Amino acid sequence: MSRVAYVNGRYVPHRDAAVHIEDRGYQFADGVYEVIAVAGGRLVDEAGHLARLRYSLGEVGIPRPMTDRALAIVLREVVRRNLVKDGVVYLQVTRGVARRDHGWAEGMPPSVVATARPKKQPTALAAKGVSVITVPDLRWKRCDIKTVGLLPNVMAKQLARAAGAFEAWMVDDQGNVTEGTSSNAWIVTRDGAVVTRKADSAILNGITRTAVVEAAAAAGLALQTRPFSVDEALGAAEAFVTSTTSFVLPVISIDGRPVGDGKPGPMARKLLGLYCEKAGLGE
Ligand code: PDD
Repeated sequence: MSRVAYVNGRYVPHRDAAVHIEDRGYQFADGVYEVIAVAGGRLVDEAGHLARLRYSLGEVGIPRPMTDRALAIVLREVVRRNLVKDGVVYLQVTRGVARRDHGWAEGMPPSVVATARPKKQPTALAAKGVSVITVPDLRWKRCDIKTVGLLPNVMAKQLARAAGAFEAWMVDDQGNVTEGTSSNAWIVTRDGAVVTRKADSAILNGITRTAVVEAAAAAGLALQTRPFSVDEALGAAEAFVTSTTSFVLPVISIDGRPVGDGKPGPMARKLLGLYCEKAGLGE
């Protein structure tokens, strides 16, 4: 089966899918995106992702390219044409194509592309746990916008990969963990409180993060939305990350030092179960 991509109103073979070299996404990273999990052919938390896309577009002043209803049809069609049962769908909206100029002319049509691919659910990884390294957070001050401007993130992820780690946790000037390069960061204190940073402009407010916060609250777990330092994480009972692609993934070491007993912990397991239940995912 050959893959199919959506590009500006057309479904085209993936290998031929292209936008113009003067697309502002290409030249200025002037665009935003979403990654949505597909489980059993269904889009997981689609409404949350489309709401965040509207937010990102609004914050950077890119007009909405189409209604949510139309976007939902495109996403479904890309999933269907690629025969994706379990996987991810990627949606990107840039400001559009124009002669290179930092400022832009109002009214240009945004570019919209979408792709889908199968991906195994992260179950095996969750059973083993993953390692993270820490790096300085070099990003801009609007990390709440899901922009395609990801250079600090990709550089940090590559450092993690070179160190044999799964993820890099970015650390702000106060020594507190902001988030991972493509996931939110969490710890569980020794007395059982689940801690993640407040969703302000220092982090992306993950759709998975929100679902886990809601699931934890509904289950009556002690939840604290506040910053935590690398030292606090190293002394914590557990740590984990959340994202569309990772669900709830235990972190068993930070910078080569074990977290807790160096194994996936019970709270991460419990939250993974609650998340899967809430999102309608088979664990
Ligand atoms: N990344 N923080 C950052 C910087 C992210 O890029 C992501 C998601 C998250 C988690 O958000 P969510 O739960 O909505 O997936 C947090 C996606 C998966 C990516 O870029 O591939």
